[in-house]
Amino acid sequence: MSPSQRLKTLSNHLQRALKMKLLYPTSLHIDTKSLEGFSVELHPYDVTLPIPEPLIDAEFLVTWSNKATNLRDAASRMKNLRWIQSLAAGPNDVLGAGFDASRIAITTGSGLHDETVAEHTLGLLLNAARRFYEMRDYQSRGEWPGHLGGAQPDRAPGTFRTLKGANITIWGFGNIAKNLAPVLTALGANVTGVARSTGVRNGFEVVAEDRLQEILPKTDALVMILPGSASTNGALSAERLALLPNHAWVVNVGRGTSVDEDALLEALEKGSIGGAALDVFSAEPLPKESKLYAAPNLILSPHAAGGRPRGAEALIAYNLRRLLAGQELKNII
Ligand SMILES: NC(=O)c1ccc[n+]([C@@H]2O[C@H](COP(=O)([O-])OP(=O)(O)OC[C@H]3O[C@@H](n4cnc5c(N)ncnc54)[C@H](OP(=O)(O)O)[C@@H]3O)[C@@H](O)[C@H]2O)c1
Repeated sequence: MSPSQRLKTLSNHLQRALKMKLLYPTSLHIDTKSLEGFSVELHPYDVTLPIPEPLIDAEFLVTWSNKATNLRDAASRMKNLRWIQSLAAGPNDVLGAGFDASRIAITTGSGLHDETVAEHTLGLLLNAARRFYEMRDYQSRGEWPGHLGGAQPDRAPGTFRTLKGANITIWGFGNIAKNLAPVLTALGANVTGVARSTGVRNGFEVVAEDRLQEILPKTDALVMILPGSASTNGALSAERLALLPNHAWVVNVGRGTSVDEDALLEALEKGSIGGAALDVFSAEPLPKESKLYAAPNLILSPHAAGGRPRGAEALIAYNLRRLLAGQELKNII
């Protein structure tokens, strides 16, 4: 090898040694081309296994549907970690894995699931209003659900049979709600948001929780899109459920912990609410012995609303560029 070739090799080695590592999950397809151009080495990793020893010194970790054992292992062994980009909108798995939050920045995938969760929620609301779930029950018994077809009363008071004119309250008015709300108003619904900060957001009135007392009794469908956190634990309590009219539906696509499930079960069994469409539960999978499976007017969806992050590469690249430039990150917790 000539002296100049040796120098070149050494420089390459040095450059490689100085490069930081970003680990990306193989649990979804990531177009790594759009992550090229940063002074960062890109390495795939398996989210079901411990991080391989040669990658343990990585500075950046992207997570998606990682096994709890993988995350706990990463939290204890990845001493150089500076940033975790979760592709989940609510990264409760990462937050519960024991990472040192004082030195590791954690950013969420909020925004990547807006379209899919909004679409799923619309489906659940239409299922509730048009009673497809009940038709399917009849079909599976080989019976004709005659009462659900033919001439029907239109918009009878005290019913939730259409989105037209329905009062829909969205509790947790963030990125997903901002996608969902215009679709609901396009079908004629009146949408009110509930969040921590109040005001008009994307053209929708957003109020604080202290207005629930007045809003819940007028609600035809309550859509919960709250994150899982100490502050949202049991937010939909027995007292608040009791404020809903008998025909009102509860749809939860946020986190199961935001609903008092025992109180919800009781409300369904008593018929003090119209029904519930739940995509999320405090324990997932919902245990076999859960009484919710057999609750009347309960539509169960197995955490199926999101699950397909869209535009992950753009978010990773955006935050990576900002991190390397020492700027504030998007979706930082
Ligand atoms: N089912 C699924 O497959 C699926 C998929 C994606 C996400 N999710 C869940 O949906 C959640 C929301 O996602 P997103 O992207 O819309 O999040 P986001 O943009 O962060 O919005 C969260 C909303 O919740 C409100 N909020 C937070 N804590 C609250 C509290 N203690 N009381 C009242 N309101 C509170 C926020 O209020 P402010 O605006 O006033 O801050 C904000 O409006 C995620 O955290 C995740 O758990 C579920």
